[in-house]
Amino acid sequence: MPSGPTCILGIETSCDETAAAVVDSDRRILSNVVLSQLEDHRVYGGVVPEIAARAHLDHLDAIVDRAVTEAGIGFDALAGVAATAGPGLIGGVLVGATLAKAVACAHGKPFLAINHLEGHALTARLTDGIDFPYLLLLVSGGHCQLLQVEGVGRYRRLGTTIDDAVGEAFDKTAKLLGLGYPGGPAVERAAAGGDPDAVALPRPMVGKPGCDFSFSGLKTAVRRRVEEAGDALDAERLANIAAAFQRAVAASLVDRTRRAVDLLEQEGIVGRPLVVAGGVAANGAVRAALAELAGARGMQFVAPPLALCGDNGAMIAWAGQERLALGLVDGLDFRPRPRWPLDPDAAPSIGAGRVKA
Ligand code: KG4
Ligand code: ZN
Repeated sequence: MPSGPTCILGIETSCDETAAAVVDSDRRILSNVVLSQLEDHRVYGGVVPEIAARAHLDHLDAIVDRAVTEAGIGFDALAGVAATAGPGLIGGVLVGATLAKAVACAHGKPFLAINHLEGHALTARLTDGIDFPYLLLLVSGGHCQLLQVEGVGRYRRLGTTIDDAVGEAFDKTAKLLGLGYPGGPAVERAAAGGDPDAVALPRPMVGKPGCDFSFSGLKTAVRRRVEEAGDALDAERLANIAAAFQRAVAASLVDRTRRAVDLLEQEGIVGRPLVVAGGVAANGAVRAALAELAGARGMQFVAPPLALCGDNGAMIAWAGQERLALGLVDGLDFRPRPRWPLDPDAAPSIGAGRVKA
């Protein structure tokens, strides 16, 4: 009897999105429910871990029910239950992983403990079906890394941030400009009306050896420009700073990525896809700059649709599909990890394993 596609439920609760989705083994997203806690955290200007964990606890049951119902299946039809088991804010991770274990146990299904970063890393295989290996630029609120993705669970880190993550830089810049939280989309909106040439800002790490990133100096430079403007920080000036900041970030990301492409080329790895993933992958200027680089180097460029850039359950369900296909099932005694680098051999560095610090 020919067997049809199998479904996996994916649960994501590592930061401020309570999310669940069902994805089948034919790369179809049957449901993708994301509840943002934005309003719960906005007044604090950032994510408050305790509030996030409680909100996940309040809403996750209903979100999971909705994901399964919208997929048009029942729990019994699932081939497995996947959940983010780290890295992230541990209170939230515990809520999601514990519910996933309970569902898996109650319905006799395999449990899959997913590294949140692997969820982002494999999204391009869900959306575009690309083969390994590929070069990944992972840009989110807690991470900024260049990785050679060699297979499921097989990552080689080529570069990482030595201070702030790039999403964090967007969020801090937004705060300095009085644009509120979350910063990335607000800075992008402001930048749309600005002139990047009107404000001088450094382009971090451009021309430096290696593939590492650094954004704290850029953030300090933004603070100086804001202080210099003082009361004259009108909408036009603000837009110019946002535009200059965004261009500096894009230039830095492209320079570091180009170096990674060079490095791989020296090893004889050429013509493989360039993939961007994570919340900052939603940024139009960043996407355009990377697409240009990929075009110049003869690489396919893959960026997720906007709905799959930020945290979601579909990427966790898909990572679950990939792992289940390889028999990489986890026990119910799996202990969630607040820190969990994708490349365990990589030297520990500041910024590794952080989520929206
Ligand atoms: O992947 P994500 O949803 O959560 C983490 O795993 O961190 O990424 C969130 C980050 C935030 O810092 C947010 O400001 C940033 O992604 N972000 C953006 C944009 N949309 C979200 N940054 C720049 N431009 C955007 N359009
Ligand atoms: Zn994320």
